[in-house]
Formats: sequence, C-alpha cells, structure tokens
Amino acid sequence: MQAPDGREASDDIDPDQQPRRLQDCRRCGLWRDATQPVAGAGKRSARIMLVGEQPGDKEDLAGQPFVGPAGALLDRALQAAGVPREAVYVTNAVKHFKWQARGKRRMHKTPAQREIEACHYWLEDELRAVRPRVVVALGATALRSVMQAKPPALKAVLGRALEHDGMAVIAAYHPSFALRAPDTQARRRAFEAIVQALERAARL
Ligand code: URA
Repeated sequence: MQAPDGREASDDIDPDQQPRRLQDCRRCGLWRDATQPVAGAGKRSARIMLVGEQPGDKEDLAGQPFVGPAGALLDRALQAAGVPREAVYVTNAVKHFKWQARGKRRMHKTPAQREIEACHYWLEDELRAVRPRVVVALGATALRSVMQAKPPALKAVLGRALEHDGMAVIAAYHPSFALRAPDTQARRRAFEAIVQALERAARL
C-alpha cells in the first residue's frame, strides 16, 4: 500500500529494530494509530506480574495500563483476592492500542501474531527488570506472548500454575471476558475464576 507521499506504508517499520525507548518503537505498525505507547506500571520489586492483551481506548489516552472498564474489574478482583494493586506489576503483551473506527468510537481489534511477536521485545525487557516469581496471563494473547513457542490453549490450563523460564505462569480469563459474558451467572463465574487465579498467584 502506498502512502500519499509515495513512500510504502511499511517503510517506517523495522521488525529487527532494537529501540532503547518504547516511544521510538517501530517494530510493527501499531504506533501509527495510537496516541502513545503504554508501558507497564508498578514496582520493580513486585513478585507478581499481571499481563493483559493491549491498552484499550482509555489506556491509550491516559498512557497507563488497565485504567478503563477492564481495569476497574481487575481492581475489584484484586481486592477480592486480597492483593493490593500497588504490590503487583501490571503490563500488556502489546503496548499500543489497536483499533478500528465504528462511527466516532474506537473499537478494540485483536493484535495479530506478528504484532504480539514484535512487542515481545518489550515484555522480555520488563520480565528481565522485574523478575517476578509469578506471572498471571490475562487471556489468550497474554498467554501466547508469555509462553512463546507452543503456548497451550487457554481453556486447557485456566487457573493452573505452569513452570516457564524459572517463573510460575497462571492462566486466567481476561477481565473483558468477565465484563462481556452473556449473562450474569457467566460473568460471575468468570470473575470468580480471575479472583481464584490471583489468590493462587499470591500463595506461590
Ligand atoms: N485490556 C488490556 O488487556 N489491557 C489494558 O491495559 C486495558 C484493557
């Protein structure tokens, strides 16, 4: 595809780029439509790292992870599990908001595998810096990014502690799944499962 000035739209992407600052990342094209990259937040000394999928509309504007509706649900789940948010490091597998316009709204679009892979560069950086004992992978994208080669299906490992690279990895539903499940019961069950995963992480 050609940009209006004649250059190829992908000319400014370099999957092999090794940027030092997230703001300079051009490893995939998601930076173009996002307001800003959203880095992880929390203490470097955190024993638990929570990994989501990607920033949403609110996070893209605020520059902070999990501050929108999914973040509010996550906060309630952390509270129910007795885990203070200040005690965990919260981040995403993909650092830019991927969206498509629907009228005036920016609707979430699931990141592609190549975008998850490109952004793993930053997750690895965070894992090296924080060295968590436990990673809670919130949803399939996070699980894929954390586990890398041959990630298991989310459903098959939900709530279980897997050993990976010297850390325990616990797979949980993504908070948005608990928000969007079709009925009250399903939403409650998904919420409870997230709480249990967080409780398990705190025990390890
Ligand atoms: N969903 C995510 O996966 N991450 C966020 O930061 C917000 C919503």
